[in-house]
Amino acid sequence: MTSRERFLAACACTPLDRPPLWVMRQAGRYLPEYRALKAKSSFLEMVRTPALATEVTLQPLQRFPGLDAAILFSDILVIPEALGQGYNFRDTGGIAMAWRLETRAQIDSLVPVDAVPDRLSYVADTLALLKTQLAGQRALLGFGGSPWTLATYMVEGGSSDEFERIKQLFYTERATFDALLEKLTASLIAYFKMQIRAGADAIQIFDSWGGIIAGPDYEASSLKWIRAIIAALPADFPVILYAKGTAPHLTDQAFSGARVLSVDWTNDLSIVRRNLPANVAVQGNLDPVLLNTTPAIVRHEATRLLESMRGTAGHIFNLGHGITPQAKLACMETLVATVTGWK
Ligand code: CP3
Repeated sequence: MTSRERFLAACACTPLDRPPLWVMRQAGRYLPEYRALKAKSSFLEMVRTPALATEVTLQPLQRFPGLDAAILFSDILVIPEALGQGYNFRDTGGIAMAWRLETRAQIDSLVPVDAVPDRLSYVADTLALLKTQLAGQRALLGFGGSPWTLATYMVEGGSSDEFERIKQLFYTERATFDALLEKLTASLIAYFKMQIRAGADAIQIFDSWGGIIAGPDYEASSLKWIRAIIAALPADFPVILYAKGTAPHLTDQAFSGARVLSVDWTNDLSIVRRNLPANVAVQGNLDPVLLNTTPAIVRHEATRLLESMRGTAGHIFNLGHGITPQAKLACMETLVATVTGWK
């Protein structure tokens, strides 16, 4: 069985001898070969140049051949950028948007949705290159942000601590909020269709900030837009929904149309597995900070997670969020060896 087949079988909840493995932000600052490339080109140059984005995507698979899936090297913020709101990195860490979205007029003057796929055609080119290079051996994942998570960056003007502006907009100017989310939803549908045409085997939607809104408002702020996106994609196409801090909404997420729920490390994954419908797979959920500790701790905790899932179908092994720049290569090696060698 190829890695690609193993990955797709786990998405379909087919029983397997061991779960497939990949990690979120597998390309990133913890890899010396990534840092070497980034010394020559900026992050945005790498994202926009298909040959470079392909190289960065494949770096972790070359170093860790046990990984079963490749995730496109890009960023969720290419959608705001395609809509006319560029982004950069703050020197102090975090994201700075080129300007802050504050008014209905600014929403109306964003780039028309129809133009979005063309403006992101480099992503399709990168996926096509990757498809050829992976030759059907590994699964190829596309991705994008959820409408809500993207809206937080656009309305806050970048990374945020308290998310006051986006909440203010949601509670005081719902029609304006809805107009923005509608535009993002339509853009993401067009973008994901383009990724599927270009060869993605699955799409992961990152609702990284789904957990910051009051529980009873998760539906209107985030989940309903995600459902609309999934409903617009081909019926059998695997969508993975990652959300952070949304444990009370797992059941609703399971009925969103997503084939896989990617859950953060604060959940006990075996309990999540038992409580969800059997046709929905789960992905996760090791705490990424464990990769900053020692190989012995990683082996212990990864084995504990594997054992807790023994005998269940529909598990993709992953971290509960993105790997950090402080992750140790020896810890990643041990993680890969532990999952791929598990019996
Ligand atoms: O997993 C992968 O390697 C795929 C590529 C990927 C990146 N970003 C590359 C990246 C993916 C899937 C993302 C998603 C993303 N981007 C999310 C959702 C996932 C999550 O982490 O919750 C979010 C919120 C973003 C926005 C973003 N981009 C942030 C908050 C940052 C970090 C900024 C900082 O100063 O720490 C980025 C930068 C980024 N995106 C890096 C990478 C490899 C690091 C860039 C670098 O400095 O080299």
